[in-house]
Amino acid sequence: MNLILFGPPGAGKGTQSALLIERMGMKQISTGDLFRAAIKNQTKLGKEAKGYLDAGKLVPDSVTIGLVEETLGEMGDQAFILDGFPRNVPQAEALTTILNQLHLKVDKTIFLEVPMKMLLGRLTGRRVCKNCGATYHIESKPPKKDSICDVCGGPVVQRPDDKEDVIRTRLEAYETSTRPLKDYYKAKGPYVEVDGVGTSDEVFTRISQALKSR
Ligand code: AP5
Ligand code: MG
Ligand code: ZN
Repeated sequence: MNLILFGPPGAGKGTQSALLIERMGMKQISTGDLFRAAIKNQTKLGKEAKGYLDAGKLVPDSVTIGLVEETLGEMGDQAFILDGFPRNVPQAEALTTILNQLHLKVDKTIFLEVPMKMLLGRLTGRRVCKNCGATYHIESKPPKKDSICDVCGGPVVQRPDDKEDVIRTRLEAYETSTRPLKDYYKAKGPYVEVDGVGTSDEVFTRISQALKSR
């Protein structure tokens, strides 16, 4: 089963993708993670993307769409979750074309609904492992040892774009570009909205139920 998981910054897309990988064997395609890896490795893509991520702005479609096309082309018949792509209507239209060319389809689009007032706290409190990308939260999911990853022992740090001023720009980009995708996918289907408030396991249970519904 192939999924699109979308929602505002901090809604829990990465957290739920990790659970879907662990419990259902899917593979995650997170454009944000792909950009961060490229920045870390100082590739051409990383150099193009860095200024946009640091500022909390969307990377231009010409760059992002090419990246997804390449990644999906390498997927074979592995079930995938698109996390953070598409993020605007032109990306959604490009995705349809790419999927048709590759004879692939998305079985369900899930919108993770979290009220705006909760997002700032989720994002400012998030910490991530520099090594393996495991995600923590200073209140709801702290690492067992301070600033050390439970999974790999790597350093747990704040994402550079999780500073309050950058978060505001990201939330604006979401409002302007990504929120309109709700109507786009509602019309296109199969589309489902999932309440993203509650524990990660509660949200995962809702997603699992949504995947069973037609
Ligand atoms: P990206 O990495 O996709 O960031 P985002 O969309 O802002 O989403 P986040 O990763 O911040 O949030 P999330 O929903 O994954 O939440 P998480 O599970 O971590 O994109 C970054 C940048 O890359 C963009 O700004 C842009 O520059 C560029 N980019 C990426 N895709 C692009 C595209 N398609 N086009 C153009 N540019 C693109 O959870 C957040 C926190 O909350 C964590 O601390 C977690 O522990 C906690 N949490 C999660 N679930 C719960 C819960 N149920 N209860 C309590 N806490 C919870
Ligand atoms: Mg994420
Ligand atoms: Zn780690």
